[in-house]
Amino acid sequence: MPGIVLVGAQWGDEGKGKVTDYLAGRADMVVRYQGGSNAGHTVVVEDREFKLHLIPAGILHPGTSCLIGNGMVIDPQVLLQEMDDLERAGVDISMLGISPRAHLVLPYHRLQDELEEKSRGVGRLGTTQRGIGPAYLDKVARTGLRVSDLLDETALKDALSRVLAEKNRLLQNVYGASGLPPEPILDQLRVLAARIASLVKDTSLEVNKALDRGETVLFEGAQGTFLDLDHGTYPYVTSSWPVAAGACLGSGVGPTRIDRVIGVAKAYTSRVGAGPFPAELTDGLGETLRQRGQEFGTTTGRPRRCGWLDAVMLRYAVRVNGLSSLVLTKLDVLDGLPAVKICTAYRADEVITEFPPSLKVLSGCEPVYEELPGWEGDIGPSRDWAELPREAQDYVRRVEDLAGVPVAAVTVGPERSQIIQLRPELLP
Ligand code: IMP
Repeated sequence: MPGIVLVGAQWGDEGKGKVTDYLAGRADMVVRYQGGSNAGHTVVVEDREFKLHLIPAGILHPGTSCLIGNGMVIDPQVLLQEMDDLERAGVDISMLGISPRAHLVLPYHRLQDELEEKSRGVGRLGTTQRGIGPAYLDKVARTGLRVSDLLDETALKDALSRVLAEKNRLLQNVYGASGLPPEPILDQLRVLAARIASLVKDTSLEVNKALDRGETVLFEGAQGTFLDLDHGTYPYVTSSWPVAAGACLGSGVGPTRIDRVIGVAKAYTSRVGAGPFPAELTDGLGETLRQRGQEFGTTTGRPRRCGWLDAVMLRYAVRVNGLSSLVLTKLDVLDGLPAVKICTAYRADEVITEFPPSLKVLSGCEPVYEELPGWEGDIGPSRDWAELPREAQDYVRRVEDLAGVPVAAVTVGPERSQIIQLRPELLP
């Protein structure tokens, strides 16, 4: 069976955690291919809430292998905490595998992220300050430390002292901050090494072998298309590749191994951090969506900016990811609104129907909306497409028309069971 990529079709926070959880229950393996502890998945299982930043949410399904791919950056402190929390909750983590090629996020990365953001002033990007950008910067500069370095303490010590000398020069001379001593970092890395040594494995080999055996592998993207370093709203993006192509790069499989790409989009749009957002609602309705949808960052707790669904963005996400279908999440958040709107184009000097690469154009344009009737009642208890009000069905059908791909399922609440299949053949 297939290799399935699950990717965010907006600016992250699309509710991928719940969809991953659903698919992971049907998959043999889940591999995360990019990002780090800037991501946050909240999964609710029988009234218990799990917040995961690094470990794939599939870990909550006994028997599913979960891999941290080479494209990820790992903060030791966060990984150790997450492993502890899961074990304390009685979750078996022996099926976790960690790529030796994944890079480490170290305390100087966090500090650098924080200091860089401060120095940007009003031009700040609104990063999560988890050290993600600086860690990927070191990876590209070929000065990063990797999980494999943990396994040889002498070499690790040498590598750290070389890198730290350079980092401390930057922290002290450019930012006027204090340098960091190596010992506490080494101490933490020793703890991490002892804890994860038995979990480090060639994850590319594992994934390919699973696919050869005909197993279902879910490639789990974090963040979303519009935060992609190449295809997002640069520079207001993250420093990795959430788009579907990133799944190959970040897990060590070829594109021929991907059978299906599922995009996850919320029934409205949200964004956390700075950058243009044409369909943003800055009025009371934006606040209503924020409160009803509990739109506060899992990782940082920051309030998310909210707005109507943007079909121009969806069409672009379909294109750059090669989406086979969409899962539309949090449809219930729109319950009880007299009318719902979808942004179908942007108005600048002319009407634009394709997502513009120019940040200037995007920042200056106005949304063109189509209005549809809202629906009454609470759709949270619905489990069947036929139970949804006609207007809610029409809304979903219109999203399909505008996006150009079928909607495989909608979600109507945070519980595992609150998912309605429209086309079961598109969602295993
Ligand atoms: P960074 O990934 O911390 O460098 O942040 C870069 C941008 O991506 C900022 O606008 C963040 O708010 C945003 N971002 C990073 N991770 C997530 C996520 O998981 N969900 C939503 N936004 C994110």
